[in-house]
Amino acid sequence: MKDFSREEIDYVLDTAEKLEPVARGEIRSRLLDGKIISLLFFEPSTRTRLSFEVAARRLGGQVLNLGLVEASSVMKGENLADTIRVISAYSDLIVLRHPLDGSARMASEFTSVPLINGGDGSINHPTQTFLDLYTIRRESHLDGLKIAMAGDLKYGRTVHSLCHALSLYGAEMTFVSPPELRMPSEIVRVLRKQNILVKETESLEEIIGDIDVLYMTRVQKERFPHPVEYEKVSNKLKVTGDLLKAAAPGLKILHPLPRVNEISPEVDETPHACYLEQAFYGVPIRMALLALTTGVIE
Ligand code: CP
Repeated sequence: MKDFSREEIDYVLDTAEKLEPVARGEIRSRLLDGKIISLLFFEPSTRTRLSFEVAARRLGGQVLNLGLVEASSVMKGENLADTIRVISAYSDLIVLRHPLDGSARMASEFTSVPLINGGDGSINHPTQTFLDLYTIRRESHLDGLKIAMAGDLKYGRTVHSLCHALSLYGAEMTFVSPPELRMPSEIVRVLRKQNILVKETESLEEIIGDIDVLYMTRVQKERFPHPVEYEKVSNKLKVTGDLLKAAAPGLKILHPLPRVNEISPEVDETPHACYLEQAFYGVPIRMALLALTTGVIE
């Protein structure tokens, strides 16, 4: 997200808004006619992979999917640089998800076509951030926002990317986590240097009445060095109907999904729940990013 100014982010959000009727299937588009979009996912994904695929298809593009890594030559020892060099010769754009921190930045050195980061390790998930911002703009407001981010703030790449983007809008941020999963101190330091009001707490009850948006996250089991460390912190924070009795009427709850147990099912039926609509907004956002990155929209 650090590659984008506020004006550029707003431009992406505006473009997504124009493309939303196409994302909903109300209008047909051939903007990506003749373009091949490659999806290289070295980690599991439902929303990012499928919403990129839907976005490409709704715009008339074709999709080349690496599929299961186990069925590719990565299993014979091929390195990421060679895979990227080869796939970039087959396609007009690559979307990459990879478990290693910094992998997207590294891969961008070896591609001859645009490459979009679909999530790298615990560092960045910029396309998720665009759809999070789009959701907040649609369902709440970006200017003067009071947001709490809760859950796994240590390993959660979505919150790391979101912090930077929201700092451009001057949001007040509260980080809610057990001590073991606090937001990295470097991110907190940079935000404070930008004069962003940052608070940290371990309690959702303490802050639920004083925020516009609650951004919940899953504890990232796959990034813990030892399972026992995961067990210690996996059930610490939960949004329930009871908790929401103290919430402001306009509170919106977001979650990048998948969720495990951090939001009770009864919350789905409340006007606070936004996470399923948020997942849909991934389609117009990824349409905008594909169209702008391939240059079919300027
Ligand atoms: N939010 C998100 O990245 O979901 P997936 O892992 O299913 O793509």
